[in-house]
Amino acid sequence: MRIRRCAVVYFEPREQVEFDLAELLGGGDGLHRERRWLALAPHLGTEVEVDGDERELLGVLSPGQWIEADSIGADGGTLARLLRVGLLVSDAPEHAAMRERDESLRRTYWHPLAATLHAFTRWSGVDTVQNQKDSGTETAVAMRQVLGAPPVEAARRVGDDARVHLPRIAPTSFDDLLARRATCRNFDASRTLPFDVFAQVLQRVFAAQAEVRVTEDTVFLKKNVPSGGGLHPMECYLIVQHVDGVAPGLYHYQAQEHALEALPAPPKPLREFVMDMVAQQHWFADAHVVVMLSPRFDRTFWKYRHHAKGYRVVALEGGHLSQTLYLAATDAGLGAFITGAINEVELEQAFGLDPIHQGALAICGFGWRGPVMETAELDPAERVWQRAEGEPAAGVDKLGKPRIAYGQAQGGPRTVPGDSTMRFLVFAVLALASFGACAGDGMPKSLDIPAIVQQQKQIQADIIAERGHYKDLPAAKRTEVLSRQATMLQLLDGKTTDKQLSADERVDVFNTLEWIEVAINQESDDERMVCRREKPLGSTRTVRTCRTVADEREAKERARQELDGNNNRQMIR
Ligand SMILES: Cc1cc2nc3c(=O)[nH]c(=O)nc-3n(C[C@H](O)[C@H](O)[C@H](O)COP(=O)(O)O)c2cc1C
Repeated sequence: MRIRRCAVVYFEPREQVEFDLAELLGGGDGLHRERRWLALAPHLGTEVEVDGDERELLGVLSPGQWIEADSIGADGGTLARLLRVGLLVSDAPEHAAMRERDESLRRTYWHPLAATLHAFTRWSGVDTVQNQKDSGTETAVAMRQVLGAPPVEAARRVGDDARVHLPRIAPTSFDDLLARRATCRNFDASRTLPFDVFAQVLQRVFAAQAEVRVTEDTVFLKKNVPSGGGLHPMECYLIVQHVDGVAPGLYHYQAQEHALEALPAPPKPLREFVMDMVAQQHWFADAHVVVMLSPRFDRTFWKYRHHAKGYRVVALEGGHLSQTLYLAATDAGLGAFITGAINEVELEQAFGLDPIHQGALAICGFGWRGPVMETAELDPAERVWQRAEGEPAAGVDKLGKPRIAYGQAQGGPRTVPGDSTMRFLVFAVLALASFGACAGDGMPKSLDIPAIVQQQKQIQADIIAERGHYKDLPAAKRTEVLSRQATMLQLLDGKTTDKQLSADERVDVFNTLEWIEVAINQESDDERMVCRREKPLGSTRTVRTCRTVADEREAKERARQELDGNNNRQMIR
């Protein structure tokens, strides 16, 4: 049998300290200290305690050169144990599994320190919420008490006089988008995410936008994020919970085909599984879509072989993807998050990944924000959430404090949290410009016809040219927007004021604008306002009522239930 040492192993002389009453009573400091040698070998992923003889033997043997086992005169027991735990490898069939782990690591070209860091910082079964409770660091105030003051929030390197102040440039819509990005810890599981919105976020963040085919087997992708070496090692795995038209479960996202690949179900109910994956951070458990950022290390290390910076480059890419995800979600009117507090071992098992080749780097997610902030979010400028009357001011000292009841920034009939829809809401609001006041039912008192016509023509031109915001609009939606616009523009042709429209026509124009707004923002139709002119039962007078689609559905459902209830009562009688 020929043997050699495994490719990578580090030794740690570890001291374990425990309280010891006998020690204290004997006049000591009450602490029992025990030192032991631990072998950290990344192909194993678990620490192995070794004794002096084992450590010495590992130090003598080459990791590259095979030698006959009986040529080294080593103790048989020592040799057998090191082979059994995989710190030594042999060409004997009974050691084939350990040899394969070792060779797998060699084939992946890890930098040895990076491989060790990666292998031994993975969690399994960690409850980070309980850990925070146990350490008394649940809130910012508690953290200050337990940990003392943190280093200053932003460094200053020169005296006040020496600082060159820069101009603050007037904000654009991009600043507005950035300002509305806040880590979401309050998801609304009662509301499903439209399929198109789900697809749009994935397309913007993870899809290949173009490719360069160097040879048939060497292809470089172009994506919306930078990537070390242009290699884009990051795979996107999904836990889909509440998306229209997508069965809840685990998926792999195929970046070139912009397609989902269904994977076997996890070993427990989905929400419970998500809770375990995010180390019991319940504030993320209801996210409509949970994304595991999963780098294929072998892709990056193919170029950066044993490179000291390779692992860092991969980790940095996770940040780029996360920020792009936050912005894509914010732009779609959704909340997003990232967490590094994840149980990697269970993630690898559920998604069938070998951590030597492919890791679990972080978990992100996105979805609708809930109506009430139950877990604190950092929004001191109130760009996402608005304090309800009489609520205490949002402040950093509230961080982590549960159950602060806030209303939402964007009140009125729309229940979407204050978010990116604002930008395109402006469109409708502008279109209905100069309405100043609403008639109490949500519909403006007057319609600014020239402004509407001008804006619709602009949107029409942009849609036809597939420009800007409209280039991602699905083809079917684009066609329908253009068709409804055309009908409306025909009606408005030659008119300068809404006095030239009948009451019904005014309602039609309003409804069409509402419909277009929802369509181009790719929002849920539930929020769309619909006005009707109808005669209430028993009345001869026509009145106008305006309700959201969701409210209308609810009213219909209530009416149906009432009818059912009556039927039931009749049947009982
Ligand atoms: C790499 C990374 C890891 C994070 N991990 C967690 C986490 O485990 N739990 C959590 O609630 N937030 C997590 N966050 C979110 C931060 O707490 C949040 O970004 C920070 O409080 C600032 O708030 P903002 O994102 O709303 O500006 C993480 C953020 C980053 C960038």
